[in-house]
Amino acid sequence: MKPHGPIPPGFAADADGMLRIGGRRADALAEAAGDTPLFVYDRAMLTARAAEWRAAMPREVQLHYAMKANPFAPLLAHMATIVDGFDVASGGELALALASGMAAEHISFAGPGKRDRELEAAIVAGATLNLESAGEGARALAIADRIGTRPRLAVRVNPDFDLKGSGMKMGGGAKPFGVDADAVPALVRTLIDAGADWRGFHIFAGSQALDADAIADTQAQTVALAARLAEAVGAAPPLVNLGGGMGVPYFPGDRAVDAATVGARLAETLGARGAALAESGFAMELGRWLVAEAGVYLMRVVDRKVSHGETFLVTDGGLHHQLAASGNFGTVIRRNYPIAVAGRFGREADETVSVVGCLCTPLDRLGDQVGLPRADVGDLVALFQAGAYGASASPAAFLGQGPAREMLV
Ligand SMILES: Cc1ncc(COP(=O)(O)O)c(C=O)c1O
Repeated sequence: MKPHGPIPPGFAADADGMLRIGGRRADALAEAAGDTPLFVYDRAMLTARAAEWRAAMPREVQLHYAMKANPFAPLLAHMATIVDGFDVASGGELALALASGMAAEHISFAGPGKRDRELEAAIVAGATLNLESAGEGARALAIADRIGTRPRLAVRVNPDFDLKGSGMKMGGGAKPFGVDADAVPALVRTLIDAGADWRGFHIFAGSQALDADAIADTQAQTVALAARLAEAVGAAPPLVNLGGGMGVPYFPGDRAVDAATVGARLAETLGARGAALAESGFAMELGRWLVAEAGVYLMRVVDRKVSHGETFLVTDGGLHHQLAASGNFGTVIRRNYPIAVAGRFGREADETVSVVGCLCTPLDRLGDQVGLPRADVGDLVALFQAGAYGASASPAAFLGQGPAREMLV
């Protein structure tokens, strides 16, 4: 038997053992949705998560949601009421963010390869562009000049450090993201001289880290870098976006980030910041930490079979909705996300099974030889930590299976 990741706290079962999500039974949710597979997102858990963040962090730091983690429109509309801003990464996300009710001045747009029409849409809307290069800056200024608007422009900095222990490094060395730190002051001066509304710096060093001290060390380096750049520019950045990096426990042995430690150390860092940043505001930009735990992916067992002594639960779900849980088309070491039989939630395991999807590829495996209570055809299997990078970050068109249903409850 192989272990699976920890089931997030806060989930419980009805008296008969049926998992409840957002106060409703998983079987009733599947019925209400009309079919499985189904993503369910718990609104109260999202609200509690944002509140947990605010309780841990210094009051002066704003909370931004990186909507790439989950752009489901009802979820976005809810997030718009509980965070201070959205980070978008494309013209498509910008349109969704504006439709969610988030004010344009609280939307920032980072990402390489922004096309002219995307730059123009952001400038017309009044969103902030986090510029990824001097070339992008020149195009943004030309577009703003043509349409007669003062653009809101920040500079994304490619820091000369990365976030230790991070699942995805976004800084340090040659990167397609951001402007190398030593070239930033000249670009900012160009923007200011051209009359742009310079909004500050965006410094994103990595993602999916669980070590609070590593995150805090990176934030201290980020603040020091922003101070050096501000001095070199000779102007105070209105906002320093410190990036994110707070991850979630997906795998056996993973422990949740100690947010209180991150917050306490950030308070120390900001308390000791120099005069160059005395008037600046700060923000953190989080995706998965805010939304992953609130999401559950429900799939139904379609077949139960034994092959060479191994029992398979074949479900109607799969990697076309949960690419990361399947191992991203073949990671070196595949480990199990948290998983449970929805109708026997919290019960002891009584067999070892592999939970597979309905795609005709050996990679479509969402639970590899996990211990679960017995499940039969028709039962629901729940995969946890499914609120981020699931529905929108998986190849839904692969093998003609189509998208999953999604619900916010
Ligand atoms: C610029 C930027 N912001 C935010 C995020 C969100 O990261 P996470 O969902 O791990 O918080 C990413 C992820 O790659 C990113 O590149």
